[in-house]
Amino acid sequence: VENIILDCDPGHDDAIALILAVYSSKINLLGVTTSAGNQKHSQTLRNAMSILTLMNEKTIPVASGNHTPLLRELISGVSMHGLTGLDGADLPIPNFAVQSLTAIELIAKLVSESEKKVTLVVTGPCTNIALFLTVYPNLKNHIKQLVIFGGAMGTGNWCPTTEFNFQADPEAAKIVMSSGLPIVLAPLNVGFEAQLLDKDKAKIHKVKNSVGKAVAGLIDFYGLSFNTHWDFKGLPLYDPCTIAWLIDPSKFVSQKCNVEVETQGIFTTGESVIDYHHITKRKPNANVLFHLDREWFANLIFEAVNSFD
Ligand code: BDR
Ligand code: CA
Repeated sequence: VENIILDCDPGHDDAIALILAVYSSKINLLGVTTSAGNQKHSQTLRNAMSILTLMNEKTIPVASGNHTPLLRELISGVSMHGLTGLDGADLPIPNFAVQSLTAIELIAKLVSESEKKVTLVVTGPCTNIALFLTVYPNLKNHIKQLVIFGGAMGTGNWCPTTEFNFQADPEAAKIVMSSGLPIVLAPLNVGFEAQLLDKDKAKIHKVKNSVGKAVAGLIDFYGLSFNTHWDFKGLPLYDPCTIAWLIDPSKFVSQKCNVEVETQGIFTTGESVIDYHHITKRKPNANVLFHLDREWFANLIFEAVNSFD
């Protein structure tokens, strides 16, 4: 069983990552921290707490993160996620209290108290994790690894070659990628493969528990966003790739690569420069996920949604 903290910015796909993490018996979710990303910090916090409330989880501590990216103005995910960041579902009002600690204080507390090293899963901009590593360098040895959804090789979803999470806070991504900690990076390339097809969506629509009903609404709305902006056969669920990898890494094809983050480009700020062919001979700093078993992934999402009362 993996002890994890999920740092997220829900976000439709973050919400499903959170559901997967609560569902899986292979994962012990110690806490949830939220970042400014798909929506402003107060909204992503509320969304994370709503999703936990939906699952009847009142004991997992939740803390709010930095209000902005490290150096930049927040870019907005409204075009994909709607005004609330989680449009499409009637979600419950949070029924438990947020921690009085900040995100990095909560991470510091949880990793210090944990009997074994903790995996930090990041499904939003890297702001909170960059701050945590900077403020608490002595706690680095309590971290087992970072599993991050971010970056892209030769493609993008924000600019032609940049992915939203890295684009939203490039300086934070740079700090995190050069931390020296073991990193698993799930870029857009694997995210594009992590699609729910119509048959998978139909199965989820048949689930009658409250999580199923909410997820059905979320994937319908998110699917419309994708149809407006993209030409995909199915609906890519980016962020759950991180949790899915923790559940069964054998379902993924990965390669160790050096990954640097561009922070000074004219057209490329936020680009992850992934040295797939080892051209630079720089030391690999991440295990990069490129492919996954789509059928397995879609079924895992269904099993998770279906498992609730
Ligand atoms: C990432 O950006 C956000 O919109 C999603 O939640 C995901 O974390 C994909 O680029
Ligand atoms: Ca996200």
